[in-house]
Amino acid sequence: QEVKEFRELLVKWYSENKRDLPWRRQITNPDVNQRAYAVWVSEVMLQQTQVATVISYYNKWMQKWPTLQDLSKASLEEVNETWSGLGYYSRGRRLHEGAQKVVHEMKGEMPKTADELLKQLPGVGKYTAGAIASIAYGQATGIVDGNVIRVLCRMRKMGGDSTSQPVQDKLWQHANSLVDPDKAGDFNQGMMELGATVCTPKTPSCNTCPVRSLCLANKEVEFDKQEKTKEL
Ligand code: ADE
Repeated sequence: QEVKEFRELLVKWYSENKRDLPWRRQITNPDVNQRAYAVWVSEVMLQQTQVATVISYYNKWMQKWPTLQDLSKASLEEVNETWSGLGYYSRGRRLHEGAQKVVHEMKGEMPKTADELLKQLPGVGKYTAGAIASIAYGQATGIVDGNVIRVLCRMRKMGGDSTSQPVQDKLWQHANSLVDPDKAGDFNQGMMELGATVCTPKTPSCNTCPVRSLCLANKEVEFDKQEKTKEL
């Protein structure tokens, strides 16, 4: 029941507060392959680069290569040149290799599940596979990135080293059981958006958080405040 409430609050908040980002405009594209390509490019760029920087690179990339077919015909030099400034060039190279694989070995069709994306595309890890599957295809699969880790750890008061295998496993389990099966893409983007704009690292804006009533970290803060008031 609490899970259901969490989903409803988060998805509603996301629909009202999401930032207008160029790749999000592609999510309404009726062509599922186009949606997947757009999510793939944006998520790979966003892996090690901030949103503000990615926007112009994403737009330039999509203008140059609007489809996987276009990208598959690009030269490596062009790819590197367009990636120039983003860093970690292997990301762009793998995207290019992946496009060639999809076009030449998969009849131009992107794999349709997180498992297949993970196995078949170079440079696509668990996170990117889950992001494409949920955002482009609506598959009910959770995702865990830095923002999601912070949100989940605070909500559930999880401690420990979030890069350790046991904590990672727990986080992925959590994400998979929380994701809204009917709105997986909006739910996952809502989690990332919450971490990026409200549940921020240093001073989270708990007073504007849509799910603070369900948050264990917030309960603790509120409890401490009451104790302090009593002492005065
Ligand atoms: N960071 C990683 N993925 C993102 C997305 N889809 N939207 C905004 N920020 C992100």
